[in-house]
Amino acid sequence: MLEFEQLGRRRASSYVDGDGWVGACGKVILFGEHSVVYGQPAIAAGIERAVRVRVERSTEACSSISIERWNISVSLADKLHGSAVLLQNVLKLICRHFAVEQPVHLSVDAQIPHASGLGASAALAVACSRALALFAGQDSTNEEINELAFACEKLAHGNPSGLDNSLACYGGLFRFQRLHSGVDLKALSLAQPLNFLVALSGKQGFTAKTVARVRQLWLKNKTLYDELFEQMGELTREAEAILAVDTAVDKVKLGKLINRNQACLRQLGVSCAEIEDILELASAGGATAGKLTGSGDGGAVLLLSDHRADVQQALAEKAYSSFSITIAG
Ligand code: MEV
Repeated sequence: MLEFEQLGRRRASSYVDGDGWVGACGKVILFGEHSVVYGQPAIAAGIERAVRVRVERSTEACSSISIERWNISVSLADKLHGSAVLLQNVLKLICRHFAVEQPVHLSVDAQIPHASGLGASAALAVACSRALALFAGQDSTNEEINELAFACEKLAHGNPSGLDNSLACYGGLFRFQRLHSGVDLKALSLAQPLNFLVALSGKQGFTAKTVARVRQLWLKNKTLYDELFEQMGELTREAEAILAVDTAVDKVKLGKLINRNQACLRQLGVSCAEIEDILELASAGGATAGKLTGSGDGGAVLLLSDHRADVQQALAEKAYSSFSITIAG
């Protein structure tokens, strides 16, 4: 694992694969979603090659972007509403930043679903930024790309912590904390890789909406919500200590913290029937622990299990798809 400073200086050109696609990571949050928005630490890991982008000159009058797997195609010439406008605004912002004036077309290969808590919008912003930087002849550093992707995330989510764009940019395993003075990112290393399953609830969870709802609830009951955020911060600190050991991670201890984090998220009001259903099925299939990952209200569930094939089968019986990830740190 590269030191953080080295990662910050890594250039866009190093994310281009042999076929000319420019990649960025998705992410899973192991501990601390939502509480991270209120200054508590979180632990998150990148999902490699989640989104890839290719840019070419366009013969149309305006620039455009198409994401086949999400069934979205947007031109800057279109009069649009809702999330398509957000995508237009993100594209405009990135083109303006790199002074790309001639019409271009961006093709996107998205390996993770949209609105699933896996950092798809941040991965899209990072991959598009890297690709357009290179198109404009600027081999930008991760630090520059991360700043721009954070601006894109603000357009999409209002008040993001900055975790998603940082993980999309740097990948790896990090403890992330938003401080008044900026962001504290610490690379974590694991003595041995950890395997998880990511299960998809099939219900889209919209970060901006869920984060705004949690904010309203916090404003109404700051004592309860601040206490929950504190508890989640403490769980993250305990998890960091468990992950830092120089032998294999104690999965029983880690699992207990994951389940306690899910209990806090439930109390925050961001779990939902589909997430609870997945957790029940996974537990019956032999999973040690599980929690929603991302903003919740749908999206994905992170499952810790030594019996991943059994858990996958139990989930498939109710048509929940899942995939394995390895966190190396
Ligand atoms: C979304 O992936 C994670 C949240 O904590 C929001 C954020 O950190 O900006 C819910």
